[in-house]
This record gives sequence, structure tokens and C-alpha cells, in this order.
Amino acid sequence: MVKLKIRIDKAADFVDSNEIKLFESEVELLQKKIYNKEGAGNDFLGWVNLPSEIDNALLTDIEKTAARIKAQSKVAVVVGIGGSYLGARAIIDALSSNFYQMQYQQNENPMVVYAGQNISEDYMSELLQFLDDKDYSIIVISKSGTTTEPAIAFRLLRAHLEKKVGEQKAGERIYAITDAQRGALKTLATEKGYKSYEIPDDVGGRYSVLTPVGLLPIAVAGFDIRKFVKGASNMQQFLHQEKDLFKNPAALYAVVRNMLYRKGHTTEIMASYTPNLMYMVEWWKQLYGESEGKENKGIFPAGVNFTTDLHSMGQYIQDGMRNIFETVIRVEKPQHTLEIPLDKDDLDGLNFLAGKRMSYVNKMAEEGTMLAHVDGEVPNLEILLPRIDESILGELVYFFEMGCAISGYMLEVNPFDQPGVEAYKKNMFALLEKPGFEKETAEIKKRIS
Ligand code: PA5
Repeated sequence: MVKLKIRIDKAADFVDSNEIKLFESEVELLQKKIYNKEGAGNDFLGWVNLPSEIDNALLTDIEKTAARIKAQSKVAVVVGIGGSYLGARAIIDALSSNFYQMQYQQNENPMVVYAGQNISEDYMSELLQFLDDKDYSIIVISKSGTTTEPAIAFRLLRAHLEKKVGEQKAGERIYAITDAQRGALKTLATEKGYKSYEIPDDVGGRYSVLTPVGLLPIAVAGFDIRKFVKGASNMQQFLHQEKDLFKNPAALYAVVRNMLYRKGHTTEIMASYTPNLMYMVEWWKQLYGESEGKENKGIFPAGVNFTTDLHSMGQYIQDGMRNIFETVIRVEKPQHTLEIPLDKDDLDGLNFLAGKRMSYVNKMAEEGTMLAHVDGEVPNLEILLPRIDESILGELVYFFEMGCAISGYMLEVNPFDQPGVEAYKKNMFALLEKPGFEKETAEIKKRIS
């Protein structure tokens, strides 16, 4: 049995259950397409059985490598972008104390920092300065092995580490995760003899958090990858067995969001009241945005962090253009307990909350906000998590992946490709005068002169 639940009653004024029922046979067909690998992009469906089929020997190997990195370094630099970055960051941030990294010198596990997710000269210079006096290892991740952002970051980091500890020692501290056969990173890793892991051919970047792409950084940060995989596997089994649309959270989520989209709710805002989940929302944005936004279609995925953003985006959500719906990730039980103290002077007028837990106040903010937004014509969906741990995050990740596949098929797009991301790369390479782009360079220069 899975612990994650979905509630749709706060969207009942916009989609009723009789309407939802009409989608039963369509969804059944789409689920069959996914499980039988018959739909668009069916050569990228390796993620479907990934949790249950993960090799125990691979998990043991990843754990051993994580222990080696831990023994070697106080800092682990994870180099990657998009699907080769966001999944690991989402899980690590969700499970970490907000201030854990600050005391990294005393911590048992290495501090995880990120590179290659931007091309900012300032970011990279500051990272290299930070690393100057630190023992660090590098985990470089790129499925294609040719993505510009991580390739530049890795070139700089490799040079920095080789200068610092020598080429041989650097080679013992560099770990590569890439395609089994192709790409510059594969060539480099083989040439230099880096410890490497393969990304399965049939798993695309944004669906790869349950491969070494996500699992190695998560293990290095000190979290239990077996529990994470088990949670995903539980959800995999549950979604496969549950035929009732109303009890299958991924199918229900896919149907309701598509129904709302067809009624003009073209933006979905994912909200959470737990700052630790900010990168989970970023990961979700990538998964859904890159999977669905094509052929001039798709729900625009946006994210907010409440109550922080109630003091900024809250105004728009309450009163702005009525083309939005919200999905709220609700966490029942916090990790810590903190009561609001009694103050004898009560100058701030907060004594009515004395003795109450902060989580109670947060919960009342959640309830009140949801009702206000529903009153403001914003349908609300809820994803309920009993707490945050490895297992529930595994459930959440797989739930979102399956929901995305069904939803993409409902939208009649291929949820597993990303042709649109090539356009900026072509222009950037033309502007950078990359060999092979001479014609494009000549053309683009006319447009910017
Ligand atoms: O989901 C995707 O496929 C993309 O976001 C990729 O993960 C991203 O572009 C990075 O690609 P690569 O791993 O090939 O460097």
C-alpha cells in the first residue's frame, strides 16, 4: 500500500466526478500503451519498470562509491543540468536540514554543491575559490556527454582539481555518469579511467532520478537509496494494479489536470508550504514543462513556495487572470517540534497562539489559503504526504512520472522527447562560431548586427 494520496474535492466546482468517469476507457487505453510500450516515444519507457528491476549489485556498488567519496572529500561537486541535475537536488534538499551544509566540516557526509547548471562566470569563479582549500570530488553527469554547460564546468573543475592534487589523484576523485557508448564524456572517462556508471538508453534525462544520475549524489549526501527505490517500487506496483481511475492517483491527476486545461486553466501552479520541497517543485516543472510543452500545446508549470510567496504571487493567484489551477503538496508531519512561547508583555499580540506548534499555524495558513483561492475561482488539487522521508519521496517521484506520461498522451504529444530545446543551442553555437555551424553563423550575424 502506498502512503501518498491525492484529493480533488477542492476542484469539484470545476470538474465533477461524472465528467471524470467519462475518461475511464481513454485512460485505460493510454495506460496500456505505456505498459505495452506502444505509444509515442516508446523507446524511452525504461523508467516504467526501473524501480522494481533495479539491480541489487548496482545499488551496492553505488553505496560503496558513495562511501569512497565520503572518505576522500568534505565536498562533492555534482556537475550536470536539467534531468542530470534537478532530481538529485530535489531529493537531497527535501531530506536535508536547511542549515546542514553550513557546518560541512563537522558533518559526517560531504557537502553537495552543484555546477554546470548555468554558464555564469561569477558562479563558477566563486565555486572554484570556495574549492581552493577544500578536499573535494567531482561527479560529472551527462547522458549525451556533449551538453555545453556541464562540459565547460567540468573542464574548469578538472583543471582545478588536477592542479591541486595532481592528475592521478584527480582521476581517483572524478566519477562519471553517462551513456554506455557515445559522447565526449564517455570517451574522456574511458581514456582517463574514471569510475563510471551508465545511464540506460531507454531512460531520458528528466526520468532518470532512479538511475545512478540521482542515486549516487543522493547516497553521497548520506541518504538511504534503497528506501527511496523501495518507495518508488511500491508506487510502481500500486499504479500498475489499481484499475479504478478514482483510486489510481497518477491517472486521476492526469485526467483532472487535462480537464482543467481543456476548460481554460492553462497554467498549473505547484505550491508547497515546506521550503525543503522547493527543488522538488523545480524538478516537477522540468518534468512536466519539457514533456508537455510542444506543438503549441501544454499546461504551463509554475511553482510557488508558501507562505513566502503569498506575500508576492498570492495577489495574482487570488485576483489575477483566471487561467490557473493550483496543486498543493501537503506534508502532514514535520521533522521537528516547535511551540510558540508565551510572552508576558504580549506586545506583538501573539499570545493567542502561545503553546501552539508552528506546524499548526502553517496548516491553518494552508487551509485558509486553499479556501480563499477556491473562492477566487482557482481549482485546487492536493497531494498529501504523511511526512518527508526517502520512501515517500520515491512514491512521489514515480507518481509524478507516471502522471506525466498519461497526461502527455492525453494531450496527444510525445512526453519523452524535447525537440524545442535544440533551437537555443543552434543559435548559441552559431554565435560562438562553433566549427560546423558556419552557415548558421553567417545568417545569425545578419540578425544581430
Ligand atoms: O530531460 C532531458 O532530457 C534534459 O533536461 C537533459 O537532462 C538535459 O538537457 C541534460 O542533458 P545531458 O544529460 O545529455 O547533459
